[in-house]
Amino acid sequence: MTEAQKCYAEDPFDYAPVDEILERFRGQKGTTIPVLQAIQEVYGYLPRQALQYAAKKLKTPVSRIYGVATFYAQFHLQPRGENIIRVCQGTACHVRGGAKIMEALKEQLGIGVGETTKDRKFTLESVACIGACGLAPVIMINNDTFGRLTPEKIKEIVENY
Ligand code: FES
Repeated sequence: MTEAQKCYAEDPFDYAPVDEILERFRGQKGTTIPVLQAIQEVYGYLPRQALQYAAKKLKTPVSRIYGVATFYAQFHLQPRGENIIRVCQGTACHVRGGAKIMEALKEQLGIGVGETTKDRKFTLESVACIGACGLAPVIMINNDTFGRLTPEKIKEIVENY
């Protein structure tokens, strides 16, 4: 058992995938991003325990790992929902009531931007223009686009997921 494994032996978190990932990239340089991508692929996000464990094994300050994880939008430090709702806050959508759409979603789901519902069903995110300005205001749920929205239409759309 390695030093890092001993420290975490009592912890119920499953560290085995992190060990496998670090083994895969062992001896290579500049692997922080691919290592984080691989960890996120396994857990669906970057769990704090996994990052601390990886930092210890890589003999890298955990702040460096967090620096990378928080810099890139592709990384998520919190668990994400089964469905990702992206609300466009680009100019065209903003002008046509995007903020009201966001408010309606926050209220319906009971969460804020960047948060996930307790049942892990939905994550709410805000994005810049998604290229469907003619349909403003627009949201995307996973890969589906919904346009010309009103706060009243939101409820039914979300209920279908
Ligand atoms: S501004 Fe929302 S789709 Fe372009």
